[in-house]
Amino acid sequence: MLKKDLKEFDKNLFVDLEDKWGILTVGDKKIGCNSMAVSWGNTGILWGEKVGIVYIRKSRYTYEFAKRSDSFTLSFLPHEYDNAKKVFGNKSGRDVDKYAVSGLHKTYEPDYDGFYLEEAEYVLKMKKIYELDIPYDKLPDYLKDKYYKDGDMHTMFVCKITHFLVKE
Ligand SMILES: Cc1cc2nc3c(=O)[nH]c(=O)nc-3n(C[C@H](O)[C@H](O)[C@H](O)COP(=O)(O)O)c2cc1C
Repeated sequence: MLKKDLKEFDKNLFVDLEDKWGILTVGDKKIGCNSMAVSWGNTGILWGEKVGIVYIRKSRYTYEFAKRSDSFTLSFLPHEYDNAKKVFGNKSGRDVDKYAVSGLHKTYEPDYDGFYLEEAEYVLKMKKIYELDIPYDKLPDYLKDKYYKDGDMHTMFVCKITHFLVKE
């Protein structure tokens, strides 16, 4: 993968998060990692840093990694992997080895900064700096009804983007 300056970030996440989804991988060499599909997320500037923000429900196995590790990556794969990718959105790492089932591979750079998917066309590597449980009581009723009838709340993880990698 080619390391690019974030000023060269030219991807449209409105399109890619919805259309290709991101594969969020959280963890490190000590505790291992887990990956799941995400279509909620954003990038921007916060506290003077370039940040990526993701939203993980507490029921996800990935959430357990997110509480214990600060290494987060978002991998975006081309459409040829759409079928393989589904495993990351409908199976839990608690039950199956999603890498083995999907045939997709986790990997990392020699200087190590979190695992990502080898098949990605581009990757955002990030370090967690802050997390916030979305407060149920403050949400408008239509969002409570639409997303949180079962009380399975999202936690928002704000991460500093450290690298932007692009397939060579
Ligand atoms: C297209 C798509 C987008 C998703 N986006 C999110 C998301 O942003 N946040 C979330 O908590 N779950 C999201 N999910 C659900 C998780 O990917 C799914 O529950 C996954 O199996 C969790 O795996 P885990 O238990 O190994 O963490 C999404 C699923 C799909 C198919």
